[in-house]
Amino acid sequence: MLVRCAFIETYKTPFYCNNFSSHSTMSIYQATTSAPVNIACIKYWGKRNESLILPTNSSLSVTLSQDNLRSTTTARADPSFAADCLWLNGKVDPIKPGGRLHTCITEMKRLRTAFEAANPDQPKIASFNVHICSFNNFPTAAGLASSASGFAALVYALAKLYALPQTPEELSLIARRGSGSACRSLFGGFVAWDMGSDDVTGLDSKARQVAPESHWPEMEALICVVNDAKKGTSSTSGMQRTVVTSALLQHRIGYVVPSRMADIESAIADKRFGDFAEITMRDSNQFHAVALDTYPPIFYMNDVSRAIIAIITEYNRLSDQPKAAYTYDAGPNAVIYALTPNVREIAQLVLYYFPQAEKVVIGGQEVKAALPEGFNEA
Ligand code: DP6
Repeated sequence: MLVRCAFIETYKTPFYCNNFSSHSTMSIYQATTSAPVNIACIKYWGKRNESLILPTNSSLSVTLSQDNLRSTTTARADPSFAADCLWLNGKVDPIKPGGRLHTCITEMKRLRTAFEAANPDQPKIASFNVHICSFNNFPTAAGLASSASGFAALVYALAKLYALPQTPEELSLIARRGSGSACRSLFGGFVAWDMGSDDVTGLDSKARQVAPESHWPEMEALICVVNDAKKGTSSTSGMQRTVVTSALLQHRIGYVVPSRMADIESAIADKRFGDFAEITMRDSNQFHAVALDTYPPIFYMNDVSRAIIAIITEYNRLSDQPKAAYTYDAGPNAVIYALTPNVREIAQLVLYYFPQAEKVVIGGQEVKAALPEGFNEA
């Protein structure tokens, strides 16, 4: 089998998606916004309500702040448009009645209608059809959270187009209806998605910023793209199967995640990287155990993913506290969280095992493959 990482880059964490522009003249109503991906440390896996997208557990993620992993979306409203229409990476993405895109667009139009009712001087654009154009600058659906940044950017672009007063927390309720993890991309920094308990409205199932990027600016993410092909089992269908068949999921949501959420929030508050790392790695492990406990089982990691886990485990053995934390979403690609002083050493180590054709540059300097002192190759 091919053992290599397609690319390795480091991404400084995170920030609020403020990279938008909006233009409004007499007759042009258009806004562009861009939203970054987020990578969960405590994984969301399972829904208790499919149509409202209410999760079976709370989750927590870090929003990545680099430009390389973003969705950029332009939304335009015009009376001449015959229908709502969306293009994803240049191709039409059908807006099915009652589907997730349809729900998000309808909800945003509903907010604009209310806004126009409360502000009679505002132009009446809520009834216009919209054209939406979205680009991801990274592989779509390869376990790199493209739906998260995509729906966050879509909701945010419409919020700008409609000049809505809603807060990111309120908008996260709508992004959640597009894709659960998208609600967390409405914030930068360290972000929780509280599962909530209102199963009728879902209005308490929303994202909350635990800490801004500036709280822990040394936190970085090293992305190892093992495979950028579209993943086999989508998150949506995978988690449906898990909810129906996995007994381990019940243990996870009842006994494990609630205390893990509290523990990781406290580790972030006190900037205890060792604890943050251990919780993150344990949660990734358990998520993939739950995928394996699903029947038929789901395998998201491959041999390269598992080799990276072994390398990071051995690396962490060299110090009292873990200095690197791996985590894997619904695909084989590794995300390694680490603090700035250790990132180069970790990249050198990964490169030692997975040499790259392309140069890997961190902080303007090329990274050369190397083993840390004391690293046991056996
Ligand atoms: C493994 O948000 O993509 O990345 O709500 O069905 O669209 P849907 O699922 P999605 O699931 C993400 C799953 C995950 C973990 C996480 O991001 O928390």
